[in-house]
Amino acid sequence: MAQTLNNQITREPYLQAPSPSEITVRWRTNLMTRSTVFYGKDERNLNHRTDSLQYNTEHEVRLSGLEPDTRYYYRVVLPKDTLTGKIFSFYTLPQKRLSETYSFALFGDPGSPGEDQIKVRDAVMKYYADKKMDFWIQLGDNAYRHGTDQEFQNDFFTPFKEMLGHYPSFSTLGNHDYHDVDFGSKYAQTTKSNVYFKIFSLPARGEAGGVPSGNSSYYSMDVGHVHLISLDSYGIEKNGKMVFDPGSAQYEWLKQDLQALENHRGFIIVYTHFPPFSKGTHDSDSDSIMIGMRENLLPLLERYGVDLLIGGHSHAYERSPMMKGFYGKSAEFDTKYAFREYRKNVEGFGKADLYKKEGKEGIAYMVTGNSSATSASRYPDFPHRAMKYSNDRSSGAFIVEVQKNQLTMKWLTGNGIMEDAFVIEKDFRR
Ligand SMILES: [Fe+2]
Repeated sequence: MAQTLNNQITREPYLQAPSPSEITVRWRTNLMTRSTVFYGKDERNLNHRTDSLQYNTEHEVRLSGLEPDTRYYYRVVLPKDTLTGKIFSFYTLPQKRLSETYSFALFGDPGSPGEDQIKVRDAVMKYYADKKMDFWIQLGDNAYRHGTDQEFQNDFFTPFKEMLGHYPSFSTLGNHDYHDVDFGSKYAQTTKSNVYFKIFSLPARGEAGGVPSGNSSYYSMDVGHVHLISLDSYGIEKNGKMVFDPGSAQYEWLKQDLQALENHRGFIIVYTHFPPFSKGTHDSDSDSIMIGMRENLLPLLERYGVDLLIGGHSHAYERSPMMKGFYGKSAEFDTKYAFREYRKNVEGFGKADLYKKEGKEGIAYMVTGNSSATSASRYPDFPHRAMKYSNDRSSGAFIVEVQKNQLTMKWLTGNGIMEDAFVIEKDFRR
């Protein structure tokens, strides 16, 4: 006898492309249906609804007309089902006001299933138990080993189900997200046909500020007075250029996006998968992608006032001083490139390094590619000489807190210990 197949939610709701007034809710069902989201400010009265009348198994509904920095409750609904879907909540992004504070977490290489992944996730959620997390970022390699849909389902959507349903997130592309089990990475790198692009709704149209990139591989947005830029480090463009080569579409867009920030009174943070400096599980002295990123992009990022660059890929934690003019190999690093440091107390950590940035140029570099797996460096010259602090033993995630002209960074390990912290203080009058 034929079995009856009931319609079910097979991928729980996840929040994408937030702004102060809009957010995208996505989910998956096993059968094609229309899409409805009920939402409202009162959990017991979800008095708004948005529908999409197309039949889909991949549901994508954009909620609009929302108030900034406001908590909304929502529930996705299956046809003829008005009560059974689980209720989640989210906050819309805040609007630009210098007095406000923001906080977000970054998970580097989060898609390796196992104990480290769960411990780091739980440590971050415990940290935010009594604080607001505005959003979180995945730094690429979101599902091992090949970024297939099944791997995304098992190793990303399942362990991060609660976080994805309650906190909007942004993603950047990793090399494993570019694996293509059918035709090879190069095919995906050039055609962008990988599953990643089907899964994530990224703000390529300037949904939350920034110059529209028109390309989901890279984008930017504003959260309050923080401008965030996500760069692809592994794609190949139609003309054969790597995405970090001058003349590539990404490079030219990046320049425009940075030029538009000339009078920006705030922070500029770049995140990307391949870091320019590392001696963790990858060596930036010899890795051609890391060298290409470093030599082509760093002078540009410096010139336009980027403050912090965060990468993953290397399964370690590494943090440089604030520095300027250094684009070389580890052995070539000299303290003349590093800014003078001060000290400042960070709650939960103690005396931390304080980087004061008075001029336009100076970037602090972070690697945090170990939120689901860590691995001892295989390079005898670990740590990288440009790094102020390196750790290849603990897995962890990275928390950024913004308050007026101070950025506080905290590295939280899977054991719930804050093993590193530092502060960037910037003079916005420059
Ligand atoms: Fe990677």
